[in-house]
Amino acid sequence: MSDIIDSNDIIIRVKNLYKLFGGNKTHATKMLLSKESKEAIQKKAGTTVAVNDVSFEVHRGEIYVLIGLSGSGKSTVIRCLNGLNKPTSGAIYFEGDNIESYDTAQMQEFRRSKIAMIFQNFGLMDHRNVLDNVCYGLEIKGMNKNERNEKAMKYIEMVGLKGWENEQITSLSGGMKQRVGIARALATDPDVLLMDEPFSALDPLVRNDMQFELLSLQEKLNKTVVFITHDINEAFKLGNTVSIMKDGEIIQTATPEEMATNPANEYVKEFIDSADKSQVFTAENIMVKPGCIIHSFDGPINALKQMKNQGVSTAYVISKKMELIGILPIENALKMKDKEMTLEQALITDLLTTEPETQVSDLLSVAAKTQYPIAVIDEEKHLKGIITKAAVLASIS
Ligand SMILES: Nc1ncnc2c1ncn2[C@@H]1O[C@H](COP(=O)(O)OP(=O)(O)OP(=O)(O)O)[C@@H](O)[C@H]1O
Ligand SMILES: [Mg+2]
Repeated sequence: MSDIIDSNDIIIRVKNLYKLFGGNKTHATKMLLSKESKEAIQKKAGTTVAVNDVSFEVHRGEIYVLIGLSGSGKSTVIRCLNGLNKPTSGAIYFEGDNIESYDTAQMQEFRRSKIAMIFQNFGLMDHRNVLDNVCYGLEIKGMNKNERNEKAMKYIEMVGLKGWENEQITSLSGGMKQRVGIARALATDPDVLLMDEPFSALDPLVRNDMQFELLSLQEKLNKTVVFITHDINEAFKLGNTVSIMKDGEIIQTATPEEMATNPANEYVKEFIDSADKSQVFTAENIMVKPGCIIHSFDGPINALKQMKNQGVSTAYVISKKMELIGILPIENALKMKDKEMTLEQALITDLLTTEPETQVSDLLSVAAKTQYPIAVIDEEKHLKGIITKAAVLASIS
């Protein structure tokens, strides 16, 4: 994707941005200049230093991600980009123009046509249906009804909501609401999309889908995106450039690759390490349902039939209560059928088992040695699933 980004084509430039809230700002500014701490300024001047000397550039066509913990100043920065927040000092340039120099009409045009915001809590109008929400920005621009409906439908289709246009917002799931939010923002054909934690309210699977769709849309439409998150996985997945914020300041700006290879300090390093930790898999995450399960009271004929149907060479034998008793390999089932073995003799009972919560990394050494998959068993000895050697290895790499 980076080949479409022209590094000379800077669409947004933020220069020495400060944003202070409340208290005695003159006093606070003096304290800032003499390098006093944020806490001291809050205490002595009663002023919150939300953004502290932030500078960065966003290139046309890139996804620029701002990441940081809660309260680090991300939303305050993004709200300065569309003029919702007025900087205490410093400047925002859009296509080379300081947005503070815009008169009222220019600012209105900028907000209606150049830049659009997508919010964490969707910010939709519940009393309007999907189509009318998506049309909203076009309506404000004064576009006639037929034209705006046609345009809105194009974006509704693009975000995968065709057929839902007449639904009420309240009947949609979180993921669908955010699709409406994205369609509404795209409908005015802005150059820049500002997204303030747009996927935080969604559950992990839906979130994953939305991240994928954002990447697909972005590639198709080649918009510039400024994206805020506090999730480093999301930042690294989406960002062409990532800036990490702490206490109102940007600590490092880099590509995900550069940041992971060369974290600017211990804070950045820990942030990145937290991603690896959150991606740790447990047995439960990688187990699958055994293809063939038979009851201990079943005979070898049924076991063989099931194994054949499922294309597997072992059957998991369980009690009536779903407790795992052992596994029956196909060759032993054949011997049972020929009355050469009893079930007791045919069953393999010294199986490797593990609990659902076990970390996959702890299974690595045992997985290498075992001939059969590892059985995942809960406290009541119930069989929950099985883990193959391949699944363990795949999740580690
Ligand atoms: N309108 C305001 N008035 C006073 N203080 C504010 C205002 N907006 C933000 N702040 C303060 O500025 C700091 C930065 O807030 P901001 O909302 O930008 O953080 P954030 O990184 O977006 O956090 P979160 O991840 O929780 O959304 C916080 O201390 C916050 O309390
Ligand atoms: Mg915020």
